[in-house]
Amino acid sequence: MKRVYIETFGCQMNERDSEIMSQLLVSSGYIETFTITDADLVLVNTCSVREKAEQKAYSLLGTLKKMKVARPSLLVAVAGCVAQQDGAGMLKRMPHVDLIIGPQNIYRLPELLEKASDQTPKKQIATNLSNSFVIPPFLPNMKNQSTFKRFVTIMQGCNNFCTYCVVPFTRGREVSRKKDDIINEIKHLIDNGIKEITLLGQNVNSYGLDRPNEQDITFPDLLRAASEVKGLERIRFTTSHPKDLSEDLMRCFQEIKTLCPHLHLPVQSGSNTILKQMNRKYTIEKYLDKVSELRKYNPEIAITTDIIVGFPGEKDEDFEATMQLLESVRYHGAFSFKYSDRPHTKSASFSEKVPENEKTSRLARLKSRQDEINLERHRQYIGRKMKIMIEGTSKASDGQWTGRTMTNHIVNFDGNPDLQAGQIITVIITETCQNSLQGKQTNDFNG
Ligand code: 5AD
Ligand code: SF4
Repeated sequence: MKRVYIETFGCQMNERDSEIMSQLLVSSGYIETFTITDADLVLVNTCSVREKAEQKAYSLLGTLKKMKVARPSLLVAVAGCVAQQDGAGMLKRMPHVDLIIGPQNIYRLPELLEKASDQTPKKQIATNLSNSFVIPPFLPNMKNQSTFKRFVTIMQGCNNFCTYCVVPFTRGREVSRKKDDIINEIKHLIDNGIKEITLLGQNVNSYGLDRPNEQDITFPDLLRAASEVKGLERIRFTTSHPKDLSEDLMRCFQEIKTLCPHLHLPVQSGSNTILKQMNRKYTIEKYLDKVSELRKYNPEIAITTDIIVGFPGEKDEDFEATMQLLESVRYHGAFSFKYSDRPHTKSASFSEKVPENEKTSRLARLKSRQDEINLERHRQYIGRKMKIMIEGTSKASDGQWTGRTMTNHIVNFDGNPDLQAGQIITVIITETCQNSLQGKQTNDFNG
């Protein structure tokens, strides 16, 4: 039996791709190991969305170089966005890499691996990216992965070309999966005990638009169809581009009882000047209108976001507009990043780069204010009864049970030892922490 160790960096799309690759490897005779030194094959699934993520991948590959010197039979495979971005060029820095597999080529992994480990081994580089790529139907493995919640990829790629973003270059144009394939995958998961599904895509709101003749179905239609699969308890989706957030999708948050009231709606900046430079195709006024409309459809909805600070040309007043936006929206959470130049992107060639120390201080100010808002938001839940889906026990809170509300808040609590992951129970919120809530199990639920 050969052993594979998989390291995954980056987004949920990458996590799902790693699950698929793991399943393909298991079907071709591998077993997964969680100890890198035991592995015959190390697969690194990489992210290149920010410079830091890319550095992490290269640093692991550097360590693997030493391992391969000590053990030449070790195979090293690189998948994901760095593989696509750097292709064969990666071999200059990392000549010990045996396979380079772009995101559209993961299904070919077993075949490529066979060639790479032949009698006369040859480096395998599969980085073709086609606009007519079809995501094959794929029934997920029910072993070795979460027993209660899963991701289902509904589309891949992005057509938006935000000026800072490498994704359209690494994942190609948008391709949607067939509705029937998606629904069959969800049915299979539910039949096998899964309770919660997250529909995944770079911009799920444009689902189906790439194949208008084949299927006349919008994302809200797909969401309604998916939510009707018998036995599904919770459904989520990510990510949504604000410009494509339709009234019909907002209505889903009112109408679909299993749709979790949480929306990740990346804003990136609070300044119209910067949004324009970013090619985001909305103004901050439009964004705020959508937020307030969403809250009319579902006042409970928790909205989270992504923000970039220090985009080229970002002046003090632009950054202050982003700080003001935090007060206007009062997000339930925000992921914030320092801008970094990425290969192929338009903004890499923009002048007026913001100095590193300025980016650092803007990021610190933004994070510190958002931390306060998170806490204020958390306090609003004290005394409330909330349904949570149990995820397991939490190391971070001394072995307490941990679960998630529909709004995606983590709740830690002392509970009966016979509870199980995937079970939905009611807790009463008693305390708040920076990143989670504390609760007590209770039996009744009055909304
Ligand atoms: N620099 C910094 N952050 C970036 N992101 C995407 N590209 C860059 C970049 N070049 C952030 C955006 C996006 C998130 C996934 O990563 O906020 O929403
Ligand atoms: Fe990148 Fe913009 Fe596409 Fe998101 S919508 S993946 S930020 S290009």
